[in-house]
Parts: sequence; structure tokens; C-alpha cells
Amino acid sequence: MKKTLVVLAHPSIERKSIANKIIMEKIRTIKGVKIKNLYQEYPSFKFNIETEQAALIEAESIIFQFPFYWYGVPGILKEWLDQVFTYSFAFGSTGNKLKGKQFLVSMTIGGPEDAYKAGGYNNFPINDLLKPLQQMANLTGMKFNTPIVSYNMIYVPGVYNKKEEVEQRAKEHAEQLYKYIVGS
Ligand SMILES: Cc1cc2nc3c(=O)[nH]c(=O)nc-3n(C[C@H](O)[C@H](O)[C@H](O)COP(=O)(O)O)c2cc1C
Repeated sequence: MKKTLVVLAHPSIERKSIANKIIMEKIRTIKGVKIKNLYQEYPSFKFNIETEQAALIEAESIIFQFPFYWYGVPGILKEWLDQVFTYSFAFGSTGNKLKGKQFLVSMTIGGPEDAYKAGGYNNFPINDLLKPLQQMANLTGMKFNTPIVSYNMIYVPGVYNKKEEVEQRAKEHAEQLYKYIVGS
């Protein structure tokens, strides 16, 4: 198993999450996986850049775990990228610290899969919407692995989905991610 760093970006994993909570409960059982809970560690978004960069250097495999928010990553994850993936660290002529690492997006999506297509409610396939992250991996020399995504993960009682079904899908997602990590 590769040395793995899971960067978790969920604003309320303990109180409000269903899907990401179930996924993280499973991932926490894997010995040796380092988990960085951004909202918990940095509620004011003031990152310790040295600590963050050291954790990235140490990892052979980097995973972003997050709920899809406004067609992208939650705000804290974008801010973390902006502050931590600096010139001469992540890119630029000497910025090669991430080169050769494995990178994976593991994401829960509120909407249904068939909304994510040309002419659908959300117009674009999910792979198109993930292109900024794919290009971030390209620029930094990381290998962009096929994302693990699950749809229909929003739960609003009586409106969107049934709780047990969301929980079941989250368990399946967790299983897939677990296998990816232990098999790496
Ligand atoms: C601020 C916010 C923005 C969201 N934006 C999207 C979106 O752009 N597309 C989508 O399909 N779902 C969207 N959702 C739904 C979340 O992706 C969904 O609730 C989440 O993946 C469920 O995971 P959780 O139970 O761990 O919170 C959004 C939810 C919130 C709170």
C-alpha cells in the first residue's frame, strides 16, 4: 500500500454529512492512512504552508475527498490549493515536489447521473467539470486516476432521495475507495 494522504473537505462531517461521514468512517479503519480534515484543522482558512507541503511530500498517493459544491471543490479546498500548491513547490522550473505521485478525486454528487450530460439539467458530463483538477494534476506531474464519484447523494426528506439509499450508495463508494487505497 502506498503512503496515502486523504485531504477531506467537508464543513460538517460530524453533524450534517451522511455520505462523506460513512466514507470516512471506513477509510479511518485503514492503518497508516493520513487524514487531513481541512475544515476542522483550519476553520479560519489560515494554513500552515510548511506543514501542508511536508505532508504532501511525504505522501505517495494523494486523495481529495469532498462533496461536489457549485460544480467544483468546497471553498476551503480551493483556498488550500491556492496557498499550498505554490510556484517552485508544485510547478515552475524547479517546482517538482508532487511529480510522480498518484492523485485521486473521490467525490459525492447531489444530482443524478443523467443530469450531467449535454442537454441535461446540469449540461455537462462530470468529467468535463473535473477538468481543472485534471489539469492541476497534469501541471504538477501527478497521475490523474479515474475519479471515484457517486451520484444521488443529496438527502432532503421527502424531496431528494431516501436516507437508506444514500447510505447504501455511500457504503459502496467507501468500499471502492478502500480497495483503491489498500490495493495501491
Ligand atoms: C453549498 C452546496 C453546493 C452544492 N452544489 C452542488 C452541485 O453543484 N451539484 C450537485 O450535484 N450537488 C450539489 N450539492 C449537493 C451535495 O453535493 C451533496 O449534498 C453532498 O455530496 C452530500 O454529501 P454529504 O452527505 O457528505 O454532505 C451542493 C450542496 C451544498 C451544501
